[in-house]
Amino acid sequence: MQFSRSDFPDDFLFGTATSAYQIEGHSFGGAGQTHWDSFAATPGNVAKAETGATACDHYHRWEADLDLVAAAGFDVYRFSTSWARVMPEGRGAPNPEGLDFYDRLIDGMLERGLKPAATLYHWELPSPLADLGGWRNRDVAGWFGDFTEVIMGRIGDRLWSAAPINEPWCVSWLSHFLGHHAPGLRDIRATARAMHHVLLAHGTATAAMRGLGMTNLGAVCNFEYAAPADDSAETRAATETYDAIYNQFFLSGIFRGTYPEAVLAGLEAHMPDRWQDDMALISQPVDWCGLNYYTRKLIAAAPGPWPGLAEVDGPLPKTEMGWEIYPDGLHHFLAMAARDFTGDTPLFVTENGMAAPDRIANGKVQDDDRIAYIDAHVAKVRQAIAEGVPVKGYFVWSLMDNYEWALGYDKRFGLVHVDFDTLERTPKASYHALAKALTRS
Ligand code: NOJ
Repeated sequence: MQFSRSDFPDDFLFGTATSAYQIEGHSFGGAGQTHWDSFAATPGNVAKAETGATACDHYHRWEADLDLVAAAGFDVYRFSTSWARVMPEGRGAPNPEGLDFYDRLIDGMLERGLKPAATLYHWELPSPLADLGGWRNRDVAGWFGDFTEVIMGRIGDRLWSAAPINEPWCVSWLSHFLGHHAPGLRDIRATARAMHHVLLAHGTATAAMRGLGMTNLGAVCNFEYAAPADDSAETRAATETYDAIYNQFFLSGIFRGTYPEAVLAGLEAHMPDRWQDDMALISQPVDWCGLNYYTRKLIAAAPGPWPGLAEVDGPLPKTEMGWEIYPDGLHHFLAMAARDFTGDTPLFVTENGMAAPDRIANGKVQDDDRIAYIDAHVAKVRQAIAEGVPVKGYFVWSLMDNYEWALGYDKRFGLVHVDFDTLERTPKASYHALAKALTRS
C-alpha cells in the first residue's frame, strides 16, 4: 500500500465489512426463509441459482474469521444482523439460537479489541413479511422497529455504532424498479412506496434505538458518480435525473426532510398518501453518515416514460463486475455530502473495494489490482480530509469472498480468498499489504 496509518489523524478508523446473508450460511441455526431464498430459487434471477444456504459458513467459523479481522489491524468490523435469523417469521417469537449467535459475535469482537459496527438490515427480508407486501407495505416500518428492539435489546449495549438499513437505493430502486434484486419487481408504484417506506423504517428504528439509550447511530447510503455520455441537453438532463434518484433522494430525506423535485416529478403520483407527515421522523438527527462507493456510470437519454435514461458502456478500466474504476467519484461524494447535506456530521466510507479475477497459485493470491484500487481510493479520502471534509474512517468491502447476490459466488471482493468447496480461507496479498499499512509504529 502507498499509505500507512501515520498519514491519517490519530482517531481515523480503518475497518472491513461483511453482511449476514452473504457470509453466515442461512440454512444453519433456525433462521427463517427470506425473499432472497425464493428469489434465488426462481430460474433466471441468480447466476447458477446459487443461494446463501452455506455461503462462507461463518455461522460456524466466526471465531477464526474475527481472528483474521483483528490480525489485519482493523479497528472496526462492520457486520449485519439477519432479521430472519433473529425472528424466523419476521414478527413474533424470537429464535434464541439466533440471538445467542449475535451475542457471542459481539463479545468475540470486543475480546479482540474490535469495534462492532452493526447494520440491522442488509437485504434478506423474512418471507412472511414479503408475502404481506414487504417494502411496499407501510407496516414494514413498525415490524422493523419491533425487530430493532429485540436485537438491540440483546446486543445494543455493546455496539460501537449501529445503522438501520444498508443502501436504501438497492432495497428500493434496484429491487422494485430494475428488478435485479429480491423481490425482483419492475413497478414504479412499488418503487415509490419502497423508497419512502425504507426511510420510514430507518426513522422508526433510529427512534427505537434512541429509546434504548443507544448512541453513535448512522445511515449508510450508496453512491455512483453519474457522468453524461455526450454533450446534448437531453443527456445532461437524464444524468441529473439519475443523480437525483441515486445520489440525492435518500440523503435529502434523512438530512433535509425533503425529497428532490427531480425525483418527485416522476414518483409523486405513486407515493403513499400523506408521505409528508413522515418526514420529521425520517429526518431526525443521526450521528454519522456512511458512504458506500465503487464506480461511476455513463448515462444517456432514452425514449420512453420517466426517468428516460439508459446506462452506456464506459471507456475506463473495469473490475470483474464490469464497473469502471473512478476514484475521483469518491472524493466527489465525500465533498458533496458534507457541502450539500451532512455539514459537520462525521462521514465514513462504509464500503469500498473491487471484484478481481483472484486465483490461488502456490498457496497465494497476488491481487495487485485490488491493492492499486484501494490505494487510489484511500488517496481520495486523504484529499477530502486535507480539504476539511470530516471523514473519520474507511472500511474495505469485504473481509472475504462471499455471496455476491444475483451474481452468486463468482465475483470475489474479499481480502481473504474463500474456496467454496472446502471453505478454506487464504489471505490475499491485499490483506497482507493492508496489515502492513495498518501496523502502529
Ligand atoms: C454493496 C453491498 O452492500 C454489498 O452487499 C455488495 O456485496 C457490494 N456492494 C458489492 O457489490
